[in-house]
Amino acid sequence: MEKEKFYITTPIYYPSDKLHIGHTYCTVATDATARYQRLKGRDVMFLTGTDEHGQKIEDKAREAGVSPKEFVDNIVDGPRGVKDLWKLMNISNDRFIRTTDEYHVKSIQKIFKKMHDKGDIYKGTYKGKYCKPCESFWTESQLVDGKCPDCGREVQDAEEEAYFFRLSKYADRVRDLLENTDFLQPRSRVNEMVKNFIDPGLEDLCVSRTSFTWGIPVDFDPGHVVYVWVDALFNYTTALGFLNDQYHDYEKYWPADVHFVGKEIVRFHSIIWPAMLMSMEMPLPKHVFGHGWLLLDGGKMSKSKGNVVDPYILAEKFGVDALRFFLMRTFPFGSDGNFSNELLIQTINTDLANDLGNLVSRTTAMAGKYFGGALPAGCSRCEKTEPCDGELTAAASALRDVYEKNMDAFAPHTALAEIFKVIQRANKYIDETAPWALAKDMDANGGRLAYVLYNLLEATRICGILLTPFIPQSCEKLFAQIGADADVQTWDSAARWGARPETAPVAKGENLFPRIDMEKALKELDALQEAAKKAALPALEVEPQLTEKVDFDTFCKSDFRAVKVKACEAVKKSEKLLRFTLDDGTGTDRQILSGIHKFYEPEELVGKTLIAIVNLPPRKMMGLESNGMLISAVHTEKGEEKLHLIMVDDAIPAGAKLC
Ligand code: MSP
Repeated sequence: MEKEKFYITTPIYYPSDKLHIGHTYCTVATDATARYQRLKGRDVMFLTGTDEHGQKIEDKAREAGVSPKEFVDNIVDGPRGVKDLWKLMNISNDRFIRTTDEYHVKSIQKIFKKMHDKGDIYKGTYKGKYCKPCESFWTESQLVDGKCPDCGREVQDAEEEAYFFRLSKYADRVRDLLENTDFLQPRSRVNEMVKNFIDPGLEDLCVSRTSFTWGIPVDFDPGHVVYVWVDALFNYTTALGFLNDQYHDYEKYWPADVHFVGKEIVRFHSIIWPAMLMSMEMPLPKHVFGHGWLLLDGGKMSKSKGNVVDPYILAEKFGVDALRFFLMRTFPFGSDGNFSNELLIQTINTDLANDLGNLVSRTTAMAGKYFGGALPAGCSRCEKTEPCDGELTAAASALRDVYEKNMDAFAPHTALAEIFKVIQRANKYIDETAPWALAKDMDANGGRLAYVLYNLLEATRICGILLTPFIPQSCEKLFAQIGADADVQTWDSAARWGARPETAPVAKGENLFPRIDMEKALKELDALQEAAKKAALPALEVEPQLTEKVDFDTFCKSDFRAVKVKACEAVKKSEKLLRFTLDDGTGTDRQILSGIHKFYEPEELVGKTLIAIVNLPPRKMMGLESNGMLISAVHTEKGEEKLHLIMVDDAIPAGAKLC
């Protein structure tokens, strides 16, 4: 029988900076959903990628002194870039699109032309407001306090000849789609869209630019490049092979089952995207789900605010699965949530180390201790059961269906909460049945003890199957420990209590999730985050050159001389100052004080030939007079000041003038 298809996407990331934990959140959610659908036996296509055009990238590349393509290549393919991060996070995407890929570029040109030929894209003059960081055009009425309604930043006046898409033509159909179907979820997002964008009246959308070149050229009108959102949105279809020969999956997977997107780009996905698809007479995606933001101290994370959380640090410190789990378990998917390191550690300790980890280690340890690692045949039945047996069995047997309902409703956090109810129920079952007490009289209670342990292994197995989409690597270890082979790790078997063979071998292994010492970990994290911030600073920085000119006569008034260090010592009670006794060629020693102790020890400078300006007015420092200043070269390296005294050939005599 042919498998049912499921096509799911993440937004394609804008590689203007390295990705942070907010981006990771959406991709992990998509990955967990894709894995869940595969677990259910669907033929899944999971697409992610990067959205690489636009003025912001062009500007950033210029600042970095590289071409836009080199700039994005480094962030996408370079060390600790987008692809590395997804590999580390165990993201199982089937395809990765870059909007600079040749096939995509060609497809977009055809799409643009098609809408143009149909009359849905026409030429006009654009007058309005433009938010550069968001690459968004706004009308005056859409601004909030005169600023970009999405990011709150300043907008600029813009006027130029441009192409427009007849968005207004599709307003009624889009309204109907939003109000009368379950296309956009959660439902609260529908009200936002209708109130803020549809009710005030949809205006036609400017879909080309002439003020920069880093975009897909409109091939029938040189000088125009396609607006980055048109280019970006159609990635969902070009990556399947729409209007190109790179792939041949469009018929198979389109329309998408769901696009997961952050709340600030719901407008593009739920209004502009369906309208353009209507224009192209293409089927609409079944759902768009607008998830919330991960906030830091109540505000949005952003590189410019310097408050981004690095997923690499967290994954390397706590493990990929722990991080994936935390993101999905803690924050209701449709709402905003406050990220904190404390919350992360607390979630790992409570849910993973305490509840899940303990259940697995206690159960496997007891199976080892009391039965040498294999329960006896017949252990799945017991003559004298107790109410708690039935409660655990019922909860675990019903779990798959509750979980499915929540996963299908894009509520992974609730699906996880349901699993943890069963895990907690199982831990309580251990306390209720007290296997250690049963083990005291194996002749009388051995049968019941084996039954209790079998029940625990079964509950753990079912939870393990349903946790696999979230923590795949840990579940593999879990299955190995509880003796659950591939055929009892399946979706079907998650609804079949008793599927695990009674005598399958159990082997207590390493602790799946060791407990974390909160105080120690927080300190280490601070140090790591500090070090990472430092590493992100430019490797080398020098002060910009002065543009103001000095005339030659003024310059000549500065008297630079070669001087020889006769003696050098640290000034008492000063951390910085060194006192130099210098031969300046006059026959009288010259004293200069210099705040460079951080860079040199006095003894290493004796005998050196340096350069000093000797006609500065005398200056008192720490009660000592300084007559002149030694000349150094300074720069910054990884945020740290560096200084090098200018040392010249010792053959140059003291007093020689520099000119
Ligand atoms: N390039 C566009 C998407 C085009 S899709 C056709 C874009 N890129 S982005 O890199 O800026 O953002 C990608 C996704 O990351 C968005 O869905 C955005 O909401 C999400 N997030 C960015 N910061 C986030 C948080 N702090 N929290 C949760 N998601 C966040 O938009």
